[in-house]
Amino acid sequence: MRTPLVAGNWKMNGSRAMAAGLMKDVHAGLSGISGVDVVICPPFVLVPQCFQAADGASIAVGGQNLDTHEPGAFTGEISAEILIDAGCEYVIVGHSERRALYGETDELIAHKTRVAFAKGLTPIICLGETLEEREAGATGEVVTRQLVAVLDEAGPEIFPQAIIAYEPVWAIGTGRTATDGQAQDVHALVREQLAVANSAGAQSTRILYGGSVKPENAAGLFSQPDIDGGLIGGASLKAEDFLGIIRAANS
Ligand code: PGA
Repeated sequence: MRTPLVAGNWKMNGSRAMAAGLMKDVHAGLSGISGVDVVICPPFVLVPQCFQAADGASIAVGGQNLDTHEPGAFTGEISAEILIDAGCEYVIVGHSERRALYGETDELIAHKTRVAFAKGLTPIICLGETLEEREAGATGEVVTRQLVAVLDEAGPEIFPQAIIAYEPVWAIGTGRTATDGQAQDVHALVREQLAVANSAGAQSTRILYGGSVKPENAAGLFSQPDIDGGLIGGASLKAEDFLGIIRAANS
């Protein structure tokens, strides 16, 4: 059995006041929910505050990115060591915004995955196709290419501990979510590809869906056999919405 996981990706949003309120509300709303792993990925500077607010409760904290160098002269970057020291257990790698806006390649993302895992963080590895790629019938090919890059560099043995998030780029922040069936088809394909490399680990690996998940569509998505929770952007910025999604994963 795979324990569902719901991770909130705040992206470049939030403030100390917002974090204080949201952590308190999520903390309170989690009482009675025991069947879901909950992760919050705030901007770096809010990590210590979120970690402290979680106060040993069942909310883990993650980074949104990392640099792969050993600590040293890399102005503006954050290493796995710094993330771990601040309380992070997880880190998102390969988010489509980093691929599209910051030029991160499959190879760099694979390298980040390897370093994150080796240093003791659980990577949440994002895969997903653009609208053009979907319309060209290339979804399977793109997602497989992104996954194989990770498997080649980081090794299949990082699974089932490492986590995958399938996030169709056309569904991120657009309000346009994949249908339950569209998402399930890609999740099943990802699991099949994983099984080729690591047959034992594939069945236990959590594959999250991301892209305009909301309390209203979460239950349908999470009821699919290969969808094990969600990576949530916009809806993770409001405690009530985030909790609604967590409750959907718990049922
Ligand atoms: P969204 O973002 O939920 O706002 O679509 C998801 C993500 O980018 O991880």
